[in-house]
Amino acid sequence: MNRRHFLKHAGATGLLAATSNTLLRAAQPEAPPTGLAFTTAPSLQNPGADALTVAIGVNGPSTAWVEYGETEHLGRIADGARDGLKPFDALAHSIRLTGLRPGQRYYYRVHACPIDFRTAYDIRRGEPIATDRFSFRTFDPNAAQMRFVVWNDTHENTHTLARLMEQTSRAPADFLAWNGDITNDNYREEQMVQHYLGAGGQPFTRELPLVFARGNHDVRGPAARSLSRFIDLPGGRPYYSFRHGPLGVVVLDAGEDKPDDTPVYAGLGDFVAYRRQQAAWLESELEQPHLQQAAFRIAFCHIPLWWKNQGPATDASDARSDWHRLLAKHHFAALISGHTHQHALFPPDRTKPYAQIIGGGPKPEASTLIRGSVTRTELTLVVSDLAGGELAAWTRQAG
Ligand SMILES: [Fe+2]
Ligand SMILES: [Fe+2]
Repeated sequence: MNRRHFLKHAGATGLLAATSNTLLRAAQPEAPPTGLAFTTAPSLQNPGADALTVAIGVNGPSTAWVEYGETEHLGRIADGARDGLKPFDALAHSIRLTGLRPGQRYYYRVHACPIDFRTAYDIRRGEPIATDRFSFRTFDPNAAQMRFVVWNDTHENTHTLARLMEQTSRAPADFLAWNGDITNDNYREEQMVQHYLGAGGQPFTRELPLVFARGNHDVRGPAARSLSRFIDLPGGRPYYSFRHGPLGVVVLDAGEDKPDDTPVYAGLGDFVAYRRQQAAWLESELEQPHLQQAAFRIAFCHIPLWWKNQGPATDASDARSDWHRLLAKHHFAALISGHTHQHALFPPDRTKPYAQIIGGGPKPEASTLIRGSVTRTELTLVVSDLAGGELAAWTRQAG
């Protein structure tokens, strides 16, 4: 059989198969896919001055898009297409809005449509669904002031998440930094949707964009490698920087809290090299104008660089000694951490020229909310308990 004949033959066979499939299906009642629902509130991720990602959980195979605009009438569509393909997923969707204006309020609504993907030539759309309309504001590097909120070590504690949500909504903020240990470990992607996008049922980042820092528990479990499916980060990496108003922010990822060769990890960790890679990145990133020109610089890192009776790393084999050196050299105001499950404030001293502020643990009685407010002349950080009582506060003046 020559090739031309073979192709013709194969085409005829394919046509016959398609026809018989169509006839078979035609004999059955056609029901459009139904029952699609959102499983989480929308979550605003990877915020910037000109772009932001909207993620949301769904309960079945579907596509999704975002309708948005500068007024409540919306008017623009982000279709989420990547390399020519619009979203199709059974667990969660992630749609990037681009071309936004700095410091601008945007209104948005997420749409999804069930998709019955039978064959490449038989894809059926069902009845679309949509969320209510919400809004957010993009970052603005020229804003004279800004405010943010920090959560950490929530470890899937739904009671704590509800109380944090209640406290967070009491005052305005421009972003919510979730500073690691969102989960205990990651075994199933379905659960990750609920933990990272759903926050125990709280619409925590529906209007307040998320700044995500990965904790040592977030890297645990076989599904930990899927985190980027659900959390969009600048450059796709858990370490990054951004600028909003007078504040330059660096997010670092300390990885696991024990050495890579600890037997329980079965040799699957390579965090020594990962921290070194971040040190090299940090050295060049700190020369960038958006950080250099900020009135204040802070860093988020889940694991603190020092603790009571223990200074920062000095051993050259631990790249965190370089992190500390670089934060000091570039006059950082503060490092904000978690991990210890016990809140603490370490003001600057002779060897540690920036403050280290650590949030509390997963139980409501140990949990904290940290608020930051920054102008061109002053940075203030306040640690509060879940009743709103102030536990610690620290202020730094510019210059
Ligand atoms: Fe923790
Ligand atoms: Fe931790």
